[in-house]
Amino acid sequence: VSAIAIRRLLESAAEDFRTIRLEALRAAPDAFGSTYESEVARPIKAFEERLANSLVFGAYDGEGIIGMAGLARNTGAKEQHKAFLWGMYVRADERRRGAGAALVDAIINEAPDGVEQITLTVVTDNGAALALYARLGFAIYGVEPKALKVGDGYSDETLMMRFLRPE
Ligand SMILES: CC(C)(COP(=O)(O)OP(=O)(O)OC[C@H]1O[C@@H](n2cnc3c(N)ncnc32)[C@H](O)[C@@H]1OP(=O)(O)O)[C@@H](O)C(=O)NCCC(=O)NCCS
Repeated sequence: VSAIAIRRLLESAAEDFRTIRLEALRAAPDAFGSTYESEVARPIKAFEERLANSLVFGAYDGEGIIGMAGLARNTGAKEQHKAFLWGMYVRADERRRGAGAALVDAIINEAPDGVEQITLTVVTDNGAALALYARLGFAIYGVEPKALKVGDGYSDETLMMRFLRPE
């Protein structure tokens, strides 16, 4: 079994980012607030810009990308101590090898200076993601009812957060 490597995705990795992001949206549509349809038509430039403005990590097995996670810092004047974990995904046939945990570890360890806490949301019935985040020290602080709307249906989301340095 080969080893998993975590690398920061820079603009030059926009093709890999597009590949894994679109796969995530297509393969796990219930897990994300965005949709495949809304992102597939975007030019590669849009993916480059997202990498330039956000901290995104890819998980690699050899040369192939198998997973990703992103961190977006809040922009409000009183909110810059917070950042939001988004886009967490590992290819179905590569799961339970530690890639997800390694991606969250990278986000925690490489969070920009001044970021003190990380928030995230998980659809309430996503047991795998809830277990992963709990194991990495994230605590549940609430549930947002009807957080996502698809057609006439809704999903609730569990809200989680982790302080980077224990108080
Ligand atoms: C959630 C996800 C990213 C986990 O990725 P992964 O690479 O399988 O995670 P890891 O192998 O690092 O697992 C780390 C730990 O998380 C927990 N965990 C992960 N998947 C689990 C599952 N299906 N059931 C129970 N616990 C699970 C376990 O504690 C696991 O450690 P262990 O394998 O030693 O028991 C992956 O399942 C995924 O991409 N799901 C679809 C997209 C998604 O839901 N994204 C999250 C949106 S918020």
